[in-house]
Amino acid sequence: MNERVRRNPRTEAIWTQLYEALAALSTSTGRRELDIVDLGGGSGVFAVPLARIGHRVTVVDPSPNALATLARRAAEEGVGDQISAVQGDAAGLAGVVGPDGADVVLCHGVLEVVDDVGGAVTAIAAALRPGGVASVVVAQRYAAVLAKALAGHLGDARRLLDDPDGRWGASDPLPRRFDEDGVRALLAGAGLAVDEVHGVRVLTDLVAGSVVDDPAEAAALAELEAAVVAHPAFRAVAAALHVLARRPAAGGVP
Ligand SMILES: C[S@@+](CC[C@H](N)C(=O)[O-])C[C@H]1O[C@@H](n2cnc3c(N)ncnc32)[C@H](O)[C@@H]1O
Repeated sequence: MNERVRRNPRTEAIWTQLYEALAALSTSTGRRELDIVDLGGGSGVFAVPLARIGHRVTVVDPSPNALATLARRAAEEGVGDQISAVQGDAAGLAGVVGPDGADVVLCHGVLEVVDDVGGAVTAIAAALRPGGVASVVVAQRYAAVLAKALAGHLGDARRLLDDPDGRWGASDPLPRRFDEDGVRALLAGAGLAVDEVHGVRVLTDLVAGSVVDDPAEAAALAELEAAVVAHPAFRAVAAALHVLARRPAAGGVP
């Protein structure tokens, strides 16, 4: 359960919180092996390591190419029988995972792109067992403002700041970006109780790619990231927010 993936400053903060949440859930349920759904799980960046530490993972993703890569990766890592790959999307989640079917639902980098964001979050809540945990990662609009300004695209930065959906214009590939209040309200609206919100990628998206990709520098950067995201001041400019939310246990209060 404690096996850790290679240090990657882009995802390390997410893994740290996720491992803690899984360990707590294993303790409270008395089950080491949890049923995890990875909505928009793509090529298995999260699913494969989670299967390697013993969990059963169902990846639901509309992309056949991503699912093919997932199948290859899972086979290479010897966890093919612990991962189910289903071609589908957020709107069809209820048809794949029955009500109360999952201990954990991951939804990382997906709420930005779905057609019906409220429907997706409702489907996530319905798939969770009482007491189950949603791990949600969303792009944060204020970091995008900063990145655009640093790149000299001041008009885009201003539009991003003012636009209600956090977009810089018609050519922006993302339909929406979030801020902390917005993502909290979205999850609460689906009946999920937000336990924790963490910043992800405060510095990694701003420093040169060569720093991120160098193994020695990456370890130092991961340490620095871990230190800065603990400061609330930096959370508001993190490239993404990682939210852990819980479906209240039956009879519990959110
Ligand atoms: C940015 S990638 C994130 C992949 C993975 N969750 C991760 O964190 O590495 C977004 C993923 O969402 C998937 N996706 C796009 N539209 C979706 C939808 N409506 N429902 C579920 N997944 C969707 C894409 O195919 C892609 O794999």
